[in-house]
Amino acid sequence: FMKSTEKLPLLGKKVVVTAGPTRERIDPVRYISNFSSGKMGYAMAEAAVSLGADTVLISGPVDLPRPVGVQLIQVESAADMLEAVLANFGDASMVVKSAAVADYRPKEQHSQKMKKKDGDSSIELERTTDILKTIGDNKEDQILVGFAAETNDAISYGMSKLMNKNLDYIIVNDVTDPGGGFGNDTNVVTLLTGKGKQFPFDAMNKKQLAKVLLETIMAEERSITD
Ligand code: CTP
Ligand code: CA
Repeated sequence: FMKSTEKLPLLGKKVVVTAGPTRERIDPVRYISNFSSGKMGYAMAEAAVSLGADTVLISGPVDLPRPVGVQLIQVESAADMLEAVLANFGDASMVVKSAAVADYRPKEQHSQKMKKKDGDSSIELERTTDILKTIGDNKEDQILVGFAAETNDAISYGMSKLMNKNLDYIIVNDVTDPGGGFGNDTNVVTLLTGKGKQFPFDAMNKKQLAKVLLETIMAEERSITD
């Protein structure tokens, strides 16, 4: 038989999951964003609940129902998401950053709708804060899990993100793979660990995949502490 820590390896532990895109406002009626559907993040939050976790889901704007049993915090911008993550980081056992955070935001947010003019135009952008790197640089014993969606050289880009952001795990997917990516119900990923292991997974439904990923991570954690 299985020990309860194997069936419910996250029982009594707080898991923070971020999901969806962020929106960076240009003016009251316009924004910069991306095509993230939030499906993988919502599936990760559901999987955390099913493994016993007290789950906080910090979500950008998506068109998905709230998963049963999670505390949902809705945010809009990268700055809002940073604030919500920092507020929930201290007592978390694990942070899973599935969100597709905008890398840039407009330098200026116009308080009134911008009017068009003759000729070309441009919007000045500035970098957002890297949320995952911020918590990576300040982590104590939290397990940090990142995602990397790439179109090329996925494993090597994933590996360098894992190192740069001081992560324990990164889930890499090649969005050009016909079985996975933004908006699809299935995904094809490789889990990379900070200890240098690679776990490639076959194309799978995002909900099934989320559970297998969290179970694999918890099994790795057990093998480290046992
Ligand atoms: N991430 C974050 N804050 C940001 C940007 C990214 O927390 N401002 C997190 C994402 O949630 C993801 C991981 O970092 O878990 C990797 O995101 P990705 O966009 O793939 O990497 P970047 O470091 O932004 O690099 P680039 O977009 O240039 O590939
Ligand atoms: Ca990015």
